[in-house]
Amino acid sequence: MKDVIIFGGTGFIGLSLAQHLQTKGFKPILIARSKPKHKIPFTFKQWDAETVGDWKDFLEGAAAIVNLAGKSVDCIKTPANCDLILRSRINTTLAIGEALKTATMPPKVWVQMSTAHIYGDPPKTVCTEESTTGYGLAPFVGKAWEETFLKVLPNNIRGVRLRTSFVVGKNGGALKALKRIVKLGLGGTAGNGQQGMSWLHEFDMNEIIHQAIINESYNGFYIASAPKPVSNEVFMKKLRTKMKMPFGLFAPEFIIRFGAKYFFKTDPELILYGRYVYPKRLLTEAYAFKFATLEEALDDLV
Ligand SMILES: NC(=O)c1ccc[n+]([C@@H]2O[C@H](COP(=O)([O-])OP(=O)(O)OC[C@H]3O[C@@H](n4cnc5c(N)ncnc54)[C@H](OP(=O)(O)O)[C@@H]3O)[C@@H](O)[C@H]2O)c1
Repeated sequence: MKDVIIFGGTGFIGLSLAQHLQTKGFKPILIARSKPKHKIPFTFKQWDAETVGDWKDFLEGAAAIVNLAGKSVDCIKTPANCDLILRSRINTTLAIGEALKTATMPPKVWVQMSTAHIYGDPPKTVCTEESTTGYGLAPFVGKAWEETFLKVLPNNIRGVRLRTSFVVGKNGGALKALKRIVKLGLGGTAGNGQQGMSWLHEFDMNEIIHQAIINESYNGFYIASAPKPVSNEVFMKKLRTKMKMPFGLFAPEFIIRFGAKYFFKTDPELILYGRYVYPKRLLTEAYAFKFATLEEALDDLV
């Protein structure tokens, strides 16, 4: 069995990916700062997320690296949190690059998480890989994360960056929070409701990473998002319908700003702004989405 080393592998995407890769015959090795709270059927190794440690031995002869590590953006954007969102991504990527310098049998491919938020928050433009990146904290972090990756990626390792949208899954991520909001009767349109919600089912997230590992034609950067993004208004309506919730209170901007800060302890702009992205490269390079529409994804998840 070939090892896949998943940095930041103990979170929502990492655990889902590990399960998926195991069914494909890989052995996932999860690397993170803290041991998972629940018992997991995978090898776990601790690191400090900054310096090279004995975790580097796992890189020898492994099939692939997947780097997901970084502080969650689901928080209030204090200066300290903004700093950590950036620094955690840069330092982890630098540490992996440093460890690879002395690897004698390095992995053949490094799949690097990135964000579709790199395109900023244009209200209507549909962004593809050909679009320019946007303005704000997330584009700044996304660009720095990718630039660091490109700087430390050794010449003999294939590099794949995935500019990923909002991943919807069963056991975590933002869908869980949205379902709670809908149950409380608060799942109406947020703000003007026209902000884009680009989303990706966790199965497709995992399978895109699997393809990036096994298929040597994958190289460079891709938008990892389902081909049919929708507006916040449409997303919430479909979620309410699926959950058989007949109503959802509309939340104007000032309520969202207040609620996000005082009740949900998160950044209201994650809700009030959004983007429409289109996975042009994945579609032209023959990736077949299992969940291409939101209806199909919600039928599976809710
Ligand atoms: N979920 C989404 O919809 C989505 C969409 C696009 C991009 N992404 C990106 O994909 C990655 C994984 O997402 P996720 O939803 O699985 O996140 P998650 O559940 O928050 O998991 C994050 C992982 O990174 C580690 N981590 C957290 N803070 C860290 C820090 N300060 N320094 C180093 N490692 C840290 C965590 O383990 P320890 O804290 O124990 O180290 C954990 O293994 C993140 O970088 C996220 O920004 C996620």
